Amino acid sequence: MDGNGRWAKRQNLSRNEGHRKGAENIPRVVEAFAQYQVKYLTLFAFSSENWDRPPTEVGEILSLLGEAADREVEGLAEFHKKGVKLLHLGELQRLPPEIQEKARKAIDLTSANDRITLSIAFDYGGRQEVIKAVKKILEQKISPPILTPELFSSFLYTQHIPDPDLIIRTGGELRLSNFLLWQGAYSELYFTPVLWPDFSPAEVKKALLTYQDRKRGFGKLSEH
Ligand code: FPP
Repeated sequence: MDGNGRWAKRQNLSRNEGHRKGAENIPRVVEAFAQYQVKYLTLFAFSSENWDRPPTEVGEILSLLGEAADREVEGLAEFHKKGVKLLHLGELQRLPPEIQEKARKAIDLTSANDRITLSIAFDYGGRQEVIKAVKKILEQKISPPILTPELFSSFLYTQHIPDPDLIIRTGGELRLSNFLLWQGAYSELYFTPVLWPDFSPAEVKKALLTYQDRKRGFGKLSEH
């Protein structure tokens, strides 16, 4: 969800106001994907490296996560009502305890929903995730011959969701920035200059139509 800061600057607003606008954009985008029957959507909200931003900005992004979780738990928000199952990817235990608690409650509340699974990557880093998986594998003394890509995947944060078919990056940068490095091995990539707060349902449609035209070979020869 890149581009909140630049969006704010263009409107003469503060970066925090940009993040607020970005958070407000989440429900309409989730609903658009759900309407196109996408079953799994993952949003990269906060990277392991984002802790190095100014404390006021980090605080604002954490508050936005807490507020969104609160709205769910209090029945004021729409995800639960709309059949969205919430998951978290990353290091939940490094967040302030009250935010962890709110996030856990929202995850529990929505655990039986199955219209679309929305994973929020928050304090997430792809390299950190791979190292964590390797450590667990070593601790469990898994013998090298039985270690397959499938078994390795079961040690990642994403153990309950499939690999992404499509990775979309808003905001014009042409890189993955430590997002789903293992899982994205065969993902189609879609980069758009549109800033996250402006990423509308029409942009969702555009991305999905582009994906529909891609030919995926997974390293094999495609059919002729
Ligand atoms: C990147 O834009 C965006 C972020 C680092 C934060 C995204 C967070 C939210 C949209 C809110 C999170 C809330 C919930 C409910 C999960 P940037 O700041 O790097 O933008 P720039 O590149 O234009 O400066």
